[in-house]
Amino acid sequence: MDRKIPLIVANWKMNPRTLAEGKVLFAELKKAGKRGAFVVAPPTLFIADFLRIVGKSNIAIAAQDVSSETLGAFTGDVSASMLKGACVSHVIVGHSERRARGEDDTLVRKKMAQAVKAGLLPILCVGETERDVQGKYFSLVESQVREALKGMPSSKLAQIAVAYEPVWAISTATENARPATPEDAHEMIIFIRKVLTDLYGRTQAMKVRILYGGSVTEKNIAALTQGSGAQGYLVGGASLRAREFTTIVTTVYGA
Ligand code: PGA
Repeated sequence: MDRKIPLIVANWKMNPRTLAEGKVLFAELKKAGKRGAFVVAPPTLFIADFLRIVGKSNIAIAAQDVSSETLGAFTGDVSASMLKGACVSHVIVGHSERRARGEDDTLVRKKMAQAVKAGLLPILCVGETERDVQGKYFSLVESQVREALKGMPSSKLAQIAVAYEPVWAISTATENARPATPEDAHEMIIFIRKVLTDLYGRTQAMKVRILYGGSVTEKNIAALTQGSGAQGYLVGGASLRAREFTTIVTTVYGA
């Protein structure tokens, strides 16, 4: 996909319950593809079926995770080249729900490297669990970005995206999850761009698409589109509601 086109990713997580339900939802989302391109990240088991029915639509398929290893005795893992071979184009890396289950920066870095090596476009998720008044969350996000990109050559930057997903904003994270304000998202997106600039220089840093994720809904997408400066969105809960997701896609492309 063209880097200037917004990158909207529907992260279905471990939903819906069955492949049959997934196919119904996918068919409904496909109609939204007429409004603009986006990526669907279904559970791994559904990927092959969806690739068969995706046809010549505007929709690309992502995996929600990838192995940190190339091949061999890694029970349960799926490698980047297997995904690529199946025609998957994108992969979510380092989602907070995986970090919460033990995935650390080293693993995230290896997964980023595997994805890029195989020609997938990894979407690196970063974000703080909570905001403190001293602003320590900035250094946490900086360190997540720096660690994940250690060893990543600047020639590969056009092939990666970063998603700022504050954990407190993710709909399922806590009962009181709330979306970041467009201003909060904007500030962090500028900060991430600065971290990338420090690492690679401005020209290269501008090649990385920076997205926002965390309780993106039909209610806040217009404000986010106007004020966050995000070049795309990682949408969880709302991507399971076809009508709402269609509104999100339409709003982003209409802006
Ligand atoms: P949410 O999830 O939109 O339900 O908050 C976003 C994500 O976790 O990627």
